[in-house]
Amino acid sequence: MAEFRLPKNSRIQKGTTHTSSTSGRIKKFKVYRYDPDSGQNPRYDDFEIDLDECGPMVLDALIKMKSEQDPSLTFRRSCREGICGSCSMNIDGRNGLACTTAIEDIKGDIRITPLPHMDVIKDLVPDFTHFYAQYASIKPWLQTVTPEPAGKERLQSPEDRNKLDGLYECILCACCSTSCPSYWWNSDKFLGPAILLQAYRWLADSRDEMTGERLDELEDPFRLYRCHTIMNCANVCPKGLNPAKAIAEIKKMEVERII
Ligand code: SF4
Ligand code: SF4
Ligand code: FES
Repeated sequence: MAEFRLPKNSRIQKGTTHTSSTSGRIKKFKVYRYDPDSGQNPRYDDFEIDLDECGPMVLDALIKMKSEQDPSLTFRRSCREGICGSCSMNIDGRNGLACTTAIEDIKGDIRITPLPHMDVIKDLVPDFTHFYAQYASIKPWLQTVTPEPAGKERLQSPEDRNKLDGLYECILCACCSTSCPSYWWNSDKFLGPAILLQAYRWLADSRDEMTGERLDELEDPFRLYRCHTIMNCANVCPKGLNPAKAIAEIKKMEVERII
């Protein structure tokens, strides 16, 4: 797994150790810290957590560190159920959700860094501005030209609805895109696995009537065709989705419409 992105002209400096006030089963976490307002270089802080006094997930440990040891520790979280996607980070070399990653599944000290290859706003909080702009670019909503049927919704057969399984569950956590080497090197132009899976979600929707326009937008050497089927994306997705397969389906649609 690649490294997180260091701010320009900076290097890692020595961090602080926060020891546990109790003496049960102690687990050490090495947590990336960076505060641009401090003018200091990034660092790793050590936090000792008594597992007998802590919930089972990595997010429980982070909340304990923030509540009891250092209130300035900054990270995103909301649902703590693997639904909102906001607690995505790199946990011991693998992208995942802190709220669904069990502490006990990781041997030894646990290193926590922001998602790789994204600019860091503070500590474990990456800047999603570009990622969301890419998401907006694929027009992630139903687009139609025919008038809405009078007095009823646009209906879809159960078979057509089933085609959205494996797509609609995406929580836009960006674990896949930030583990994709092609996205690391070309994220300015390549849409990456998360956004392309979302693009396919609308291409696969029987009610959408902008298939041709959507395919035109994606037909580009960079936006779509930088995927080299390395499969990191499917490996790390915390929802068990397969963005590489969705990308392959888009490529197939692009080919089928010209033959
Ligand atoms: S399969 Fe494609 S999108 Fe997925 S990690 Fe590999 S290059 Fe990236
Ligand atoms: S495909 Fe999976 S890893 Fe990628 S953004 Fe969606 S939920 Fe996250
Ligand atoms: S807190 Fe919502 S996915 Fe982890």
